[in-house]
Amino acid sequence: MKINVNSTDYNLDVPDNTSLLDALRVHLNLTGSKYGCGEGACGACKVLIDGRAVASCITPVASVQNKSIITIEGLEKDGKLHPVQQAFLDEDAFQCAYCSSGMIISAVGLKTKNPKPSRQQVIEAMQGNICRCCVYPRIINAIIKA
Ligand code: FES
Repeated sequence: MKINVNSTDYNLDVPDNTSLLDALRVHLNLTGSKYGCGEGACGACKVLIDGRAVASCITPVASVQNKSIITIEGLEKDGKLHPVQQAFLDEDAFQCAYCSSGMIISAVGLKTKNPKPSRQQVIEAMQGNICRCCVYPRIINAIIKA
């Protein structure tokens, strides 16, 4: 099957029920998206599919053919971090950082729809992302600042 990731076409020879997360990490060596719960509950594996943040662990790769997939590796442009990535750095919005790529992807999805979200809108939009280190206040600040 063919998938497009970070504006590059790939041919994959994998069973249809392979998760998008496994396709990215194991077959394409794009390891920025993380495996957390494997059940769509933690957000560590989120990627953008046609601009919407989606849990790749519960998304069959066969379902995303002919769609645009953007991973954390695809956010940087011309050597410059995406403004959300830069804001996470500036605000020190991580501790262990395992959740960070999923957090940043969800925040980019939110900012694409709503460039100036309120604090409450950020909190609501980030409900699907869990940070075990609980640096939520810094994460929220970074998203508002970006
Ligand atoms: Fe996909 Fe937790 S690993 S949501």
